[in-house]
Amino acid sequence: MARNYDLSGKVAVVTGGGKGIGRAIALGLAECGAKLVLASRTKEELDKVANEIRENGGEAVPVVTDLMVAEQIDRLVEATVEAYNRVDILINNAARSFLRPLMDLREDGWDKVFGTNCKAVFLLSRAVAKIMAEQGGGRIVNITTVGAVRGGAGMGVYHASKAALSMLTKCMAVEWAPLNINVNAVGPGLTKTGFSEPIWGNPEVEQMVAARIPKGRLAEPEEIVGAVLFLCSEDSSYITGDSIYVDGGSLANV
Ligand SMILES: NC(=O)c1ccc[n+]([C@@H]2O[C@H](COP(=O)([O-])OP(=O)(O)OC[C@H]3O[C@@H](n4cnc5c(N)ncnc54)[C@H](OP(=O)(O)O)[C@@H]3O)[C@@H](O)[C@H]2O)c1
Repeated sequence: MARNYDLSGKVAVVTGGGKGIGRAIALGLAECGAKLVLASRTKEELDKVANEIRENGGEAVPVVTDLMVAEQIDRLVEATVEAYNRVDILINNAARSFLRPLMDLREDGWDKVFGTNCKAVFLLSRAVAKIMAEQGGGRIVNITTVGAVRGGAGMGVYHASKAALSMLTKCMAVEWAPLNINVNAVGPGLTKTGFSEPIWGNPEVEQMVAARIPKGRLAEPEEIVGAVLFLCSEDSSYITGDSIYVDGGSLANV
């Protein structure tokens, strides 16, 4: 898939950049000329994506980070500034989920999901926005889900955390618009990554789920990237506080 936006000279941080949708976003940003910082807990995965970017002539720095630990979020921001002396784009993509009925969900499960999907996004965005404000602006894209706007059995804590992230997106957009920081969300529908393997790993379940999607299939990670690049580009300069759902028509079909 050829990417047409010009992001040369921009520095982009992608959380969860070692695999799945985050990896695809990182490769897309690099293809448009951005320099990357990749963050997650798994060094081998980050190194692999960083090498892939370098082999294609780009620049990438892996920074092993547990987003549940505030000091490590600070370290990620420091490492970004040390490497490139600026940050223009932040993609809050890392997330976790538990498939568990609310009756059976433990308190620490709730804390892990909200800690990763909401609190870490707040902490990292706040730190990065301070740098962006000094630079004269920037772009933040939060990866949500169609589940942010609809219920789902067994997915309560995940959907609730993403609904909260959608609202956080709007509130950050309102507060930071005067700083020229645009904050938007991209909400994928079901996408073929390790995250959703319990669904597409079972052909019968995949077929059942796909039948409810107007496009008749799940997304590939690369199909989520275009919306993210658009929201990082000059073409979206007046768009902030908004969400683009990349869902094969799922939400139109409710
Ligand atoms: N796949 C789907 O069907 C789907 C649908 C809608 C929305 N989404 C959203 O798309 C985004 C990417 O999901 P994906 O499908 O690509 O999932 P994935 O392949 O499981 O990737 C999730 C990423 O988040 C990172 N992560 C999780 N906890 C972390 C922590 N505490 N610190 C740092 N990194 C952490 C993981 O890295 P480590 O484990 O190595 O730390 C991994 O790189 C998520 O926001 C998800 O909610 C996915």
